[in-house]
Amino acid sequence: MDKEVQTLQKLTAPLLEWYDTYRRDLPWRQEVSAYGTWISEIMLQQTRVRAVIPYFQRFMAAFPTVKALAAADTEQLLKLWEGLGYYSRARNLQKAARIVAERYGGRMPDTYDELIALPGIGDYTAGAILSISYGQRVPAVDGNVLRIAARITGSRMDVLDGGNRKVFRRWVEQAMPAERTGEYNQALMDLGATVCLSGGEPLCPSCPAGEICQARRQGCQRQLPVRKKKKDKRVEHLTVFVLLRGGAVALRQRPERGLLAQLWEYPHVPGTLDETAAARQMEQWSMTPHRWIKQLTARHEFTHIRWEMTGYVIEAEGSGAPDWLWADGQTRRRYAVPSAFDKFTREVEPVLIGDKHDL
Ligand code: ADE
Repeated sequence: MDKEVQTLQKLTAPLLEWYDTYRRDLPWRQEVSAYGTWISEIMLQQTRVRAVIPYFQRFMAAFPTVKALAAADTEQLLKLWEGLGYYSRARNLQKAARIVAERYGGRMPDTYDELIALPGIGDYTAGAILSISYGQRVPAVDGNVLRIAARITGSRMDVLDGGNRKVFRRWVEQAMPAERTGEYNQALMDLGATVCLSGGEPLCPSCPAGEICQARRQGCQRQLPVRKKKKDKRVEHLTVFVLLRGGAVALRQRPERGLLAQLWEYPHVPGTLDETAAARQMEQWSMTPHRWIKQLTARHEFTHIRWEMTGYVIEAEGSGAPDWLWADGQTRRRYAVPSAFDKFTREVEPVLIGDKHDL
């Protein structure tokens, strides 16, 4: 047996004991279901536990079962997702729910192969569902678990490399206990979130691993895990038009596929336009600027792309492009505008809800 597996095995008993005392009381742990585990795990891939809790509670209240999610109004679903980001995950949830409703009568499947075949469910989520809800001995290895595994074993393998991740996964799988598998996986998640921290100093004196941890013994906790730098992101420059007309703002729907597919956004064009060029662009949309209210810049980071945005808030006249929607305060609330545009949304919201008639 690999020495790394032996080291990880030594952690199992103290880790579970630690979990019995320090486990976090989270809504998806109170009443465990495969559906709730699935939803919470997808949300937890987006942001931190504290931010997820209210989203999870609202989501489960609105769509308490797989069948309810399958039948949900997509705009309402996206609205509940607003602020979490990566809307494709919300869409995949619904696609998968429809398959589960049709093929499995609404019960989440309990085999790895069936779960992994569902849209949006990968190795980690399948492992979480199988172990937490069905008690199966399957690991759930995310960035937190990789960090813990690298530190406990003292491994210097690059965790951003897919092949290495498989090796780490195999080590964790071999080190897992036969019982309490879901608790074991969740104990690792809690340890990663509260003790074996990524940024700053890990809280080693509070860690159940103690001297088992090779990184701690060698004093190299902060150098692990090794993450070799990835290629730089592609940068896209955009000019965003926040066009106001009679208390309404222009929105258009993004294309059916790709980044932020089908969500609603303020019209924009590639490049950074000055006012003259922006006015010319507006002409093409059969619009005339009536008053230039504000110019602002914003930046948004996606996984592989960075948007550098210049935006104009303009009071305008004219028809606009035929496929636009003019949304007033009430209408706007029904359409999910991605958080990439938050800085612009904050500018228009007071106008739309009538708090401020003049910016
Ligand atoms: N992070 C990812 N999944 C989690 C879970 N089930 N509980 C707590 N933190 C998590």
